Amino acid sequence: MFNNNLLYHISTYGCQMNVHESEKIAGIFEKKGFVKAASNDVADIILFNTCCIRDSAEKKILGNLGVIKHIKAHNPKLKVIVCGCMTQQENTAKKLITRFPFIDAVLGTNSIQELPGAIDKLFSDTGKIINVYETKEIYESSEVKRNTYPLSYVNIMYGCNNFCSYCIVPYVRGRERSRKEKDIINEIAGLKEAGYKEVTLLGQNVNSYGNDLNDGSSFAKLLAEIDENTGIDRLRFMTSHPKDLSDELIYAIRDVKSVCNYMHLPIQSGSDRILGLMNRKYTRGDYLRLIEKLRKANPSIALSTDIIVGFPSETEEDFKDTLNLVKEVGFDSAFMFKYSKRTGTKAANMPKQVSMGDKTLRINALVELQKQLCFKSNLKDVGRVFKVLVENTSVRDDTHFCGRSDTNKMVNFFSDKDLIGKIVDVEITQAKRTTLFGKLV
Ligand code: 5AD
Ligand code: SF4
Repeated sequence: MFNNNLLYHISTYGCQMNVHESEKIAGIFEKKGFVKAASNDVADIILFNTCCIRDSAEKKILGNLGVIKHIKAHNPKLKVIVCGCMTQQENTAKKLITRFPFIDAVLGTNSIQELPGAIDKLFSDTGKIINVYETKEIYESSEVKRNTYPLSYVNIMYGCNNFCSYCIVPYVRGRERSRKEKDIINEIAGLKEAGYKEVTLLGQNVNSYGNDLNDGSSFAKLLAEIDENTGIDRLRFMTSHPKDLSDELIYAIRDVKSVCNYMHLPIQSGSDRILGLMNRKYTRGDYLRLIEKLRKANPSIALSTDIIVGFPSETEEDFKDTLNLVKEVGFDSAFMFKYSKRTGTKAANMPKQVSMGDKTLRINALVELQKQLCFKSNLKDVGRVFKVLVENTSVRDDTHFCGRSDTNKMVNFFSDKDLIGKIVDVEITQAKRTTLFGKLV
């Protein structure tokens, strides 16, 4: 236990997985008696939880690490730890130490189990710690410092076996490892007891949950078990790979009461040639058939996706296939990215890399199309009544509340009573481009 005047600060980059990892890291600091710092320039220890999915993330992190140099110049006792995906790339850990010699410790994506010891060492020693290795074990965190009430995040698996040719994740997060069903259920039962209303189950490819356990477990079964044994009000999950989306899961979305009427299903490209080069293992036709099945079983389901533009050798024709597919499906929302070359992946060495100018033109066209589709989808919601889990008050006005419908749309409405954490019925009266407005019923 440390003297309780010591302050910690965490900077988190990247996906929900990292955001949740930082909640576990905060839990470790607080268990040791550290207190959260208001900003990094007053902290005694600063931790960077990093991401390397795209070059833009890495550049931002390197820039922000540069700033720490000045803070450390004023406070030489400051300790700096860097962990997460960026450090797990070959040589990057050592490069970080060379470029930023003030870094005291570099830990890999298994920082959770390494962190308590590393903190003790840093405050009793002056040596550097470089500790990046792969593990197959799953470490069950005892303390998680959550700050997203009434929402919460729960890992169900780690790693990825898919090796999509553009993606660095399998190299930095290792192979798929599923958490035991009983550990997941215990965690969610505890969250329900603590008053949380919604759990998002996290994994790089939740559809292959249980494949490594060899005990007959599957993701659809897990959803049913969680629903039956925890009483949690709402369940979401991400991310799903189309090649592993089973009929069993499609029916679970319909039949398991707490599972939300929403699915995030990354397509990545609408061109069969590009999907092949991406090693996605499905065709445009396979994907469209899945969407048809999903909508047949769940007629009002909302759908979102991830799309990459400018993958190596992508032509205008390939890109048109993507635009057409997006129109044909009519996604309610989409995350769109310019392809970013990641050293060590297969696509990095593919011929005909697309110029930045073409990537920009393509992403602009796609974003514009998706904006229209999003508005169209929002207009269709006017007059509908949604169950909304109230998350917060509006930034500008504390009588205006916001929360998500089970179709994952942000809904704003007025109430003179504090409703945060409640699930309420809201009738949609107005659609804007990205959000909905309604009134309590
Ligand atoms: N370049 C651009 N986008 C990428 N993604 C993954 N790797 C890359 C890359 N190298 C996107 C994919 C994935 C999402 C999480 O990030 O669309 O689904
Ligand atoms: Fe990356 Fe593909 Fe695995 Fe998703 S499924 S993490 S895109 S390799």
